[in-house]
Amino acid sequence: MRILSGIQPSGVMHVGNYLGAVKQWVTHQSADSLYCIVDLHALTLELDPSVLREQTIDTLATLVAAGLDPDVCTLFLQSRIAFHAQLNWLLECVATFGELSRMTQFKEKAERKGGYRVGLFTYPVLMAADILLYDTERVPVGDDQLQHLELTREIAERFNNRYGDTFTLPEGMLPPSGARVMDLQEPTHKMSKSVASPLGQITLLDDPRDIERKISRAVTDTDGEVRVDWENKPGVSNLLEIYAGFSDESPHDVARRYERYGELKHDLAELVISSLSPIAQRYRELRADPGALQSVLDAGSLKATHVAATTYQRAARAMGLYAPGA
Ligand code: TYM
Repeated sequence: MRILSGIQPSGVMHVGNYLGAVKQWVTHQSADSLYCIVDLHALTLELDPSVLREQTIDTLATLVAAGLDPDVCTLFLQSRIAFHAQLNWLLECVATFGELSRMTQFKEKAERKGGYRVGLFTYPVLMAADILLYDTERVPVGDDQLQHLELTREIAERFNNRYGDTFTLPEGMLPPSGARVMDLQEPTHKMSKSVASPLGQITLLDDPRDIERKISRAVTDTDGEVRVDWENKPGVSNLLEIYAGFSDESPHDVARRYERYGELKHDLAELVISSLSPIAQRYRELRADPGALQSVLDAGSLKATHVAATTYQRAARAMGLYAPGA
């Protein structure tokens, strides 16, 4: 089963990224899975070039520390493979302005900031190119990417109808728990790298004291009963969801074991600390050897290029371009 997914090198990874995406990547890694650091997507943000470069290596080190093994799966950098940008163009000539205008993430981000970059608008087309280039069957992502994935399928289907069968139609893959982790301070908002709320997000590199502090201060409610109820008790429901994501249980099963918020928070902090501490430790070791990390990117990008070239050329030929191999 061909699996592909991606993450932006846009800051330190948080438990939403981990539970929604990366933990699944680790579980499902095989010779047929590809994981991509999407540095081209990060150009839609306002990042200083030196920061982007640092964060790209930080992201790679975090992914390996979290359990991705470059000898098992393919870990690569999007910008190393020019076919992503090339297929993006072909697909921009298939996607419509109207469908891109309907993307929720675009609307939210555009609202936050006037004068946004055109890349922010066309972002989902590049994501479609990332996925379709590798004949991807499954895309493990958090809930916030499902709309982009649906658009990818629509673009692929339209392409296949218009130009002949070219692309595999991908399907999303959500984790059983943790597909949508919310901010600990504002549990009606998604935990996010771009929304600055230091107490609201737990990162993979937080030290144990910070993790404990953030969880103990997480917003709950005054009703006092531990149960899953997203509408009336988003804070407690989110804590149960995070617990379940780490312990591979259902949030309802976790809820049944607790009478009081204090106990739940105490045990959750212990669980998160024991899960994340080895990752942070491994990260520090890996980060001390940037040369080895560069080699991982070199090897992964070389492996990915072969697959990407074949699909790109198939698509280009189908559209009437003189691509090699006709
Ligand atoms: P990005 O970098 O924002 O996030 C990476 C992954 O983390 C998931 N995620 C969450 N999951 C649960 N709860 C949250 N609060 C949370 N926040 C983030 C995201 O769903 C994602 O799976 N557009 C993508 C990157 C991308 C991509 C791709 C993904 C580019 N090309 C091709 C899959 C396939 C993004 O910005 O992810």
